[in-house]
Amino acid sequence: MDSWEWNKIAGAVLGTLIFVLVLGMFGDAVYAVHKPAKPGYIVPGVTQTAAAPAAAPAAPVEEPLPDFAKVIPTADVANGQKVAHFCAQCHDWSKGGPNRIGPNLWNILGSARGEDRGGFAFSSAMKAKGGTWTYAELFRFLKSPQGYIPGTKMTFAGVSSAQDRIDLIAYIRTWADSPAPLPAPEAAAPAPKK
Ligand code: HEC
Repeated sequence: MDSWEWNKIAGAVLGTLIFVLVLGMFGDAVYAVHKPAKPGYIVPGVTQTAAAPAAAPAAPVEEPLPDFAKVIPTADVANGQKVAHFCAQCHDWSKGGPNRIGPNLWNILGSARGEDRGGFAFSSAMKAKGGTWTYAELFRFLKSPQGYIPGTKMTFAGVSSAQDRIDLIAYIRTWADSPAPLPAPEAAAPAPKK
């Protein structure tokens, strides 16, 4: 093989590598938009096998959790309040406020999931999930309620922007007499309130 052939192979390998890197960086957004501008050159017998695994549809990558100890204090609570307009269709979060289509959400951060909220009838999916509404749990649930807890009665598509969710959670944190403690840096769970 002459050196020109080797160049083509190197190009192909490089193209694949870049594609894999881009995949890693953009996670599931990759299949919609991020294709390498220049795929590797086609070298019969070589490129095909080299490029095939990268070209297969990637499994959805789980969204990385932010470090809540860092992002909550700097979050835009006013933006969170705007995002919460979606929630107001179904939820009241004033202290002692009523249940509506969804339960009252006063003091929700740090509370047990599906705990008694003025007799609200939770779905069995919500009750079965158990656990505590930590920062991380809210972050995951509010992205896609039905994706995270299949069978939940919360028929809300979710807030796709991670920053909007962080701002919203910073606002949710104010729905309490004293805001829930921040998690230790890089640890996800605040101590349960009750
Ligand atoms: C279309 C109505 C609707 C909208 C909009 C909605 N929710 Fe809900 N939500 C519900 C219902 C119904 C439940 C009870 C779910 C179940 O039992 O499966 C619920 C449950 C919850 C819970 C769990 C409560 C608990 O005590 O365990 C949280 C947290 C929550 N919603 C937050 C939000 C936030 C934040 C928003 C706005 C981004 C929102 N919801 C928007 C209807 C809604």
